[in-house]
Amino acid sequence: MRGYSKLSSNNIYHEMIIDYSRNPLNFGEIEGCDVTHHDSNPLCGDSLDMDLKFEDGRVSDVKFRGKGCAICIACSSVLTEIVKGKSVEDVRSIQKGDILSELGLEHLQAVRIKCALLSLKILKFALYKHLAKTHTDGSAESLKEEASGLY
Ligand code: FES
Repeated sequence: MRGYSKLSSNNIYHEMIIDYSRNPLNFGEIEGCDVTHHDSNPLCGDSLDMDLKFEDGRVSDVKFRGKGCAICIACSSVLTEIVKGKSVEDVRSIQKGDILSELGLEHLQAVRIKCALLSLKILKFALYKHLAKTHTDGSAESLKEEASGLY
């Protein structure tokens, strides 16, 4: 991720959100991805797609695309950076607090939470789709519930 060490913490977070929203990381499409998922926040009309590729039980690549507000795109950038190279189990255990704290959004108003967590919701659904192919014992089901209950 980029460095912002000369600013105060509030300013750092503000700068990060603006910067990531203008120059998102991992924005685009993965040709031949293993799984893709789309979701939106119907009230504001923002919508995202996320593609994932896996290799040896790890996320070898992840990209997202679509439109969203600054918080939504910044959180998607941060989330995809966190996820890249991680094991499926580590990705599975990512919680909303892990994303919110990266951008100082722990006290975000309830109405904006959906902006910050849309990409995490998509990631959890995508992982569910991927794991459900091989985990036929139903052990992937909790991911779907987790994704649905994020906000
Ligand atoms: Fe729609 Fe933020 S206003 S995702």
